[in-house]
Amino acid sequence: MYLVGNWKMIGDRAYARRHMSAITLAVRAMPQDDRITVIHCPPAIWLTDLAAITQKSPVVLGAQDCHYEAKGAFTGDLSPYMLREAGCRYVIVGHSERRTMHHEGDTLIGRKARAAIEAGMQPILCVGESAQQRHDGRYLDIITQQLDHILSLIGERNTLLIAYEPMWAIGAGRTPHMEEIDEVCTIIRYHVKNRGILAPSVLYGGSVRGCNSSEILNLSSVDGVLVGLASTQLHEWTEIMKAAIDITYS
Ligand code: PGA
Repeated sequence: MYLVGNWKMIGDRAYARRHMSAITLAVRAMPQDDRITVIHCPPAIWLTDLAAITQKSPVVLGAQDCHYEAKGAFTGDLSPYMLREAGCRYVIVGHSERRTMHHEGDTLIGRKARAAIEAGMQPILCVGESAQQRHDGRYLDIITQQLDHILSLIGERNTLLIAYEPMWAIGAGRTPHMEEIDEVCTIIRYHVKNRGILAPSVLYGGSVRGCNSSEILNLSSVDGVLVGLASTQLHEWTEIMKAAIDITYS
C-alpha cells in the first residue's frame, strides 16, 4: 500500500524540518516491512535538507514535478537527475494543478514520466476528469485517453504508479462516492493491464482526510492514496497512517 504526501507550496524551512521529523518518527513506529510505503513530496527547495532527516528512515522522498530533459537552458526548471541526486525516488507527474495552471498536456506529461524513469525514479502518474467531463458522462473516455497517450510515450514496463485524481475533488473538501472511486480505479487497472503494465498500483487522490481514509483504503481497487493538504497536518496524516496499518495488518 502506498501513502503519498504532496505538500504543494506549503511551509517554510523550519516547518518542513519539524514536520518531516515528526513523520519520520511516526513511520519508524510502524511495523517494518515493505507492505506500506510512505512517500512525501515536499517543495523542492527543502529536499536536500529533508533528505538528511529521512536518511536511514523508511520515509521515501519524492518530487512534485520534473522537467522532461536531463539538462539544458530551461530557466527555473529541475532536471529529474537533479531531483534523483537530491534524494528523490519518486516524482509526481501530470498533477491537475500543473495541467490547469501550467497548461501541461499528455505529451509533456508522458515525456516527463519517461525522463523520470530514465533518471532512476518512479513517476506517480496523475489522471482525472474535470467537473464538466464528469457531468457529461465522458470521464472514462477522458481518463483512458490520458492513459493511452502517456503510456505510448513511456515505453514498456511491468509496473507503474497511477493516481486517479478527479479535478473536482482536489482541494475541494469533496470526495467522490466510494462507488465512483471504485469504478474508475477498477477501469484504470484493467485498461493499463491490457496495455502490458501487468502490475500497476492504482492510488486515489482528492480531499483524502483522516476521517475518510479508511473507507477509501478499504476499496479492493485502491492500492494507496495521494494526499495533499492533509499530508501537511500531522494529526490528519497520523490518522491516515493508522487506517493503513489497521487495514494492512488486521
Ligand atoms: P488534496 O490534494 O488532498 O488537498 O485535495 C490532493 C492532491 O493535490 O494530490
